[in-house]
Amino acid sequence: MRFPILRPRRLRASKIIRDAVSEASVGPDDFIMPVFVKEGIKEPEPISSMPGYSKWPIERVHEPVSEAAEHGIRKFLLFGVPLHKDEMGTSAYDREGVVQRALRLLRKEFGDDIYLITDICLCQYTDHGHCGVIGKKKYGTKEVWYVDNDRSIELMGRIGVSHAEAGADAVAPSSMMDGVVATIRRALDDEGYRDVAIISYSVKYASGFYGPFREAASSAPGFGDRRGYQMDPRNANEALKEARLDVEEGADMLMVKPALAYLDVIRLIKWEFPEFPLVAYNVSGEYSMVKASAERGWLDERLLVMEILTAIKRAGADLIITYHSLDVAKWLKEGYSPF
Ligand code: PBG
Repeated sequence: MRFPILRPRRLRASKIIRDAVSEASVGPDDFIMPVFVKEGIKEPEPISSMPGYSKWPIERVHEPVSEAAEHGIRKFLLFGVPLHKDEMGTSAYDREGVVQRALRLLRKEFGDDIYLITDICLCQYTDHGHCGVIGKKKYGTKEVWYVDNDRSIELMGRIGVSHAEAGADAVAPSSMMDGVVATIRRALDDEGYRDVAIISYSVKYASGFYGPFREAASSAPGFGDRRGYQMDPRNANEALKEARLDVEEGADMLMVKPALAYLDVIRLIKWEFPEFPLVAYNVSGEYSMVKASAERGWLDERLLVMEILTAIKRAGADLIITYHSLDVAKWLKEGYSPF
């Protein structure tokens, strides 16, 4: 044995010293809380596959936001669940659409005390459930469908402008269409919304972890899947290409999604683009897995959530979109710290 023996345990001897040398932490300032707003309901509607989470009527959307704000959460990501769906997702860029109305209401109620981000995608708004417009082409005698990239991004530019007009601070395109960031940036600038930021879902994988969200948002594709536009879970290097393109197109922040199974990608992107704030999306399936096992008494929910979120920060995320936001903010307020 060498002498003196190196004893890393000295710095683990008490909570005070562990806290002093800890490399990552989480708190309400790190969180972006998703909020589901649904058209045509009067009462909050619980989401069965996401215990503890609900969809809110437009007129009552200030309720979850104000409770969260009381606990120090100030950034929100709005998702709309419209009554009307059609082929072109027209309700997504309707000035009286569900997200646009919720935005106006929240902006009126909270002014600039909160930061409002909106999701830009077509999947909740199209009758086929794909994230873009469907085209058809012929291969010999066979007719096949495809998601038409360039027609879709034009519509996303319109969605962005309608959200900006209704009071969004930032928009977050999640469709994984090529060129969507540049198109939205140009549309926003042309209409005078130069200060509205773009938080791009740059690195979004085709993931089984989105299952509960699709139930919540009624956005599952009616045919086929999203593997023709979302990223292949087998690839990490390709994430660099997606992030680089978004940077060149004018994204203000980058995102990796999902988070927990992609910590390597979070680290890769943070190292390659340290100058861009990085958001990690701790998605619905990650939330529901924890909730389900906690309900069965198999795992300690608080401990698990703190460990997962801290790991996401440690990997390199600056901000986390998480359905656990309010729970964690409450636990921290009560003085909970598991480490
Ligand atoms: C819309 C969108 C999805 C999520 C966020 N925006 C669903 C999808 O791509 O199928 C998933 C979020 C979650 O699972 O929490 N495109």
